[in-house]
Amino acid sequence: MTTPTAHPAPQANSGPLDIAAIRGQFPILDIEINGKPLIYLDSAATSQKPQAVIDSLVEYYSSFNANVHRGVHTLSQQATDIYEDTRVKAQAFINARDAREIIYVRGTTEAINLVASSYGRANVGDGDDVIITAMEHHSNIVPWQILCDERGANLKVIPMNDDGDLLMDEFEKLLGPRTKFVSVVHQANSIGTVNPVKQIVEMAHAHGAVVLVDGAQSAPHIPVDVQDLDCDFYAFSGHKLYGPTGIGVLYGKYDLLNAMPPYQSGGEMIASVTFEKTIYADLPAKFEAGTPHIAGVAGLGAAIDWVQGVGIERIAEHEHRLVEYGLQRLNEIDGVKIIGNPKRRAGLISFIVDGVHPHDVGTVLDSQGIAIRAGHHCAQPVMAHFGIPATVRASFGVYNTTDEIDRLYEGVQQVFEVFG
Ligand code: ALA
Repeated sequence: MTTPTAHPAPQANSGPLDIAAIRGQFPILDIEINGKPLIYLDSAATSQKPQAVIDSLVEYYSSFNANVHRGVHTLSQQATDIYEDTRVKAQAFINARDAREIIYVRGTTEAINLVASSYGRANVGDGDDVIITAMEHHSNIVPWQILCDERGANLKVIPMNDDGDLLMDEFEKLLGPRTKFVSVVHQANSIGTVNPVKQIVEMAHAHGAVVLVDGAQSAPHIPVDVQDLDCDFYAFSGHKLYGPTGIGVLYGKYDLLNAMPPYQSGGEMIASVTFEKTIYADLPAKFEAGTPHIAGVAGLGAAIDWVQGVGIERIAEHEHRLVEYGLQRLNEIDGVKIIGNPKRRAGLISFIVDGVHPHDVGTVLDSQGIAIRAGHHCAQPVMAHFGIPATVRASFGVYNTTDEIDRLYEGVQQVFEVFG
């Protein structure tokens, strides 16, 4: 075999989705948990993987494994082609202007750390402001706290209301001449709010601030066009996008990335090294020190092909129907309270059950083969806002069905039976 197998579109990219055919491509969906068919409602934590992605990893290691950008030998060139072809796929997926604006990282967390450390340290100083939102997960809080502590800058937070919508008037008031950076989640992992990031970018740019959009939850669920959003940075993770763990993408506008100092250093990110001086490589290599996760990149490429084959708009429509149906069914149950009622919600529903801790709800559901996430979802400030320690979160992927939501409904009824 000399070229990687193409990963053809799983079905025609128009018309209604054939969810049974899609499910057939995810081997894990056939397993049983605790003697019951698996109902996987935890895709916000990580998505399951289609066979095409699993095969791409086996194929990479079976037929193409070599280091990239380092060898004149054929295998190294083939591995390099896979690595760079995926960069172009990622560029197209989020409509970046240039493939050099795509930096491979471990995932969204590393992308945000890269920007906070490299751009932040170079541009945020004593008395400056960094703004985040009240619905960030910890990955988009802690790196900015560390930066602000180190630089003497102020971390400001756009508040939200009890529906889980940002207070945009309050955001306007926070903006000022000292605002250097705004980092905002596109789709909140805890309550599912889809934020008006295009408007946030416009408002921040009017004050000369630079904006990062955390796309960990949005990239798998809604179409993203970074040129249309005009965000300066956008981050997403492969493993939530039907791809492997340990690989993700930082998008940054070329001029910003080009002016930023390296984040990590070593091989691959240099043009030349002497003991007196190192000249850094051009983008994107400047930010990809060391041997990268090449197999992960191969899997990411297969995942993007797969998602493009299904069509992100069709995924968004299907999941919108799931969210609407899930809200309707859960609202039918006395004693269930949905957390948040945002103007736009995607991908998930967070709720609590009267008198039963979310972990106990999770345990009862697990006994029925239903996988949900119970906890604070790495977003403790969101829990504090709603005055609760944790929620039960059902999150969806393209493979989920309304029948599975009916099983969730029955599973929650069972919780009441168990806990009286
Ligand atoms: N951020 C991931 C989640 O929401 C891990 O579950």
